[in-house]
This record gives sequence, C-alpha cells and structure tokens, in this order.
Amino acid sequence: MTSRTTLHLSINGREHALALEPRVTLLDALRDHLGLTGTKKGCDQGQCGACTVHVDGRRVLACLTLAAQAEGQAVTTIEGLFEPEGRLHPVQAAFLEQDAFQCGYCTPGQIMSAIACIREGHARSDDEIREYMSGNLCRCGAYPHIVAAVRQAAEMAS
Ligand code: FES
Ligand code: FES
Repeated sequence: MTSRTTLHLSINGREHALALEPRVTLLDALRDHLGLTGTKKGCDQGQCGACTVHVDGRRVLACLTLAAQAEGQAVTTIEGLFEPEGRLHPVQAAFLEQDAFQCGYCTPGQIMSAIACIREGHARSDDEIREYMSGNLCRCGAYPHIVAAVRQAAEMAS
C-alpha cells in the first residue's frame, strides 16, 4: 500500500488539506479530489494544453505537475477567474463575443494560456499570439476565433 501525505494547497484563494499519495498530479488532485473539473484532461502527457492552470501567476501544465510541487503556492484554475458580482473575466467575455469555441473542451486551457499570454506581453500581433498559444491544441479547429479573442482582450487591457 502506498503511503499518503497531507498536502496543503491554496486553490483559487481557498486553503485545502488533502491526504494524497506522493505521485498524484495536480490535475488529478483538482479534478478527482476537489471536484474542480473545469481543468480538462486531454492527453495527460503534456502535449495538448487542456490542463493549463496558473501557479503563482505562471501557466503550468497540471498533468505534468505533482500536487506536492504546488504546496505553498497559489493555484488558479478556470473556476477562480470569476470577478466580483459573478462577472466574467475579460478574456472569458472575449471568447464568448468572438465565438472562440465549438465543443469547449480545450477552452479552459486556452483561456488560462491567453491570460498569461496577455499578461506577459506576448499578444502584440496575431503571429505572436499564435506562437505563444501553440501549446494549446483545439481539435475543433477554432484557432482563428481564439486568436481574435486574445487580440480583443489584449486591446481592452492596454
Ligand atoms: S492534459 Fe496536460 S497537456 Fe494534455
Ligand atoms: S473547441 Fe473543441 S477542442 Fe477546442
């Protein structure tokens, strides 16, 4: 039997104590142990970007990150983006306005990457947006609308 250790995770501003095996990924901790299923499991191998979250403000792939590695850091998932009074985050609003999704499976990861893309100053041109967002795959092919949404949100933020 594998031993469990108690991890203290800060997720979307709330503290959680979870008894987990050391091998549990941040993605599985979020989805299976905390019920935060907005973060999607696509490839589970670091290749699709569906599991993108922020750890201390930087985007990370939750499927390649152990939950233990996030201890003591601030994790933000798509569920943590709501602004006061339940308003959508500006990037979420831009995705809606630009119709930047079809099935929506990749959308949470796309939005978390888009926020980092804009915050880190990589949204100055469509080419730059495409390059920075290239780790987030969309099997529906919504890419032109996703780029338009990132551009719109970047323009509003500047
Ligand atoms: S599920 Fe993590 S990159 Fe695909
Ligand atoms: S909207 Fe379906 S995978 Fe991107």
